[in-house]
Amino acid sequence: MKILVTGGTGFIGSHTLVELYASGHEAVVVDNLCNSTQTALKRVEELVGRSIPFYQVDIRDRDGLNSVMNQHRFDVCIHFAGLKAVGESVEKPWEYYENNLSGTLTLLDVLRQHGCKNIIFSSSATVYGDPAIIPITEECPKGHCTNPYGQTKSMLEEIMMDMQRADKAWNVVLLRYFNPIGAHPSGRIGENPSGIPNNLMPYLTQVAVGKRPELGVFGNDYDTPDGTGVRDYIHVVDLAKGHVAALKAIESNCGCAIYNLGTGQGYSVLQLVNTFEKVNGIHIPYSIKPRRAGDIAICYSNPAKAERELGWKAELGLEEMCRDAWNWQKNNPEGYGGMENGKLKTEN
Ligand code: NAD
Ligand code: UD1
Repeated sequence: MKILVTGGTGFIGSHTLVELYASGHEAVVVDNLCNSTQTALKRVEELVGRSIPFYQVDIRDRDGLNSVMNQHRFDVCIHFAGLKAVGESVEKPWEYYENNLSGTLTLLDVLRQHGCKNIIFSSSATVYGDPAIIPITEECPKGHCTNPYGQTKSMLEEIMMDMQRADKAWNVVLLRYFNPIGAHPSGRIGENPSGIPNNLMPYLTQVAVGKRPELGVFGNDYDTPDGTGVRDYIHVVDLAKGHVAALKAIESNCGCAIYNLGTGQGYSVLQLVNTFEKVNGIHIPYSIKPRRAGDIAICYSNPAKAERELGWKAELGLEEMCRDAWNWQKNNPEGYGGMENGKLKTEN
């Protein structure tokens, strides 16, 4: 299939490109590079041995999108583009709603005008809020999102479901990711956070590489086996393969379909730290800090629906996630070379 990949130079997008090409698909990437660099795409091209068309276009730019779609006919759009920092979304709600909602509305309109009514959307387990059911199935009711980022995911899900209800020619696959970590085993592509990482694994690898003195563990008084938060970490390569599998749902005219992409296993913060230390032979200094506002105690998936309907199942465990995250960080201590105002400081 020929696939428009928005946000394809980002963390999950770049890994998905590798898996799409490995499965014989073809992609065109659109990204405005607000949180990524074209170096990621060059590395993907090395890994897949093909050049991949790239357009530096903002998904809010209707003319830009029209120009891309006048040059290519797409079967499906995999839509990663969006802003994703939870804390920043609380500080800059308008910017988050404008980028994620306006951008996606423009994208959806241009897609349908060009006859492409198949979309796979990056949603998040955050839409479940503090989950009513553990492990979380897709039937679990959506919960209250404590931040504008999460609201954009939940609202966009509703918008796409309404569009599909009104026009049955649409196929909409909503993929609710749990906690993607790790990197491609080659160590060539990985997560490239700008500034201080918000998420656990990129913070931990920056401690391991000596960029930060210690990890803060946000709370050890949750109702969990060791008191620290429990999450469903999923290797980004497994997550990427989940998108290839989701193409099957599109091919079978699924209408609207929702899938959890997780492993079904919950691990605590300290279990992750201990595994990282064991697998990589590195000591991670940490100290216990107060709980982080908006955090929940436990979040892990029941991923059975994706296995049943898509034949997809996560294959890599916490050890591989820790090994590959470290392999990426130690080979690329500055990520893709460090970013300044959206521009690369150095190429590597
Ligand atoms: P990322 O920031 O690495 O990738 C997102 C990409 O979108 C970036 O390359 C950025 O430059 C681009 N982008 C942002 N706004 C754009 C716009 N207006 N026009 C064009 N490009 C734009 O993030 P990621 O971790 O790869 O996440 C991909 C998607 O998955 C996002 O939608 C994110 O919200 C969602 N998601 C991520 C996680 C996670 O933990 N990483 C969890 C759940 C859902
Ligand atoms: C966070 C977001 C979620 C988003 C996801 C992926 C919040 C409240 N939720 O999920 O909406 O979809 O990232 O981008 O921000 N932790 C520490 N120390 C750290 C960092 C994290 O102890 O320095 C703990 C957290 O308290 C949590 C676990 O590690 O228990 C995982 O945190 P994180 O990686 O930020 O992911 P989530 O909070 O699950």
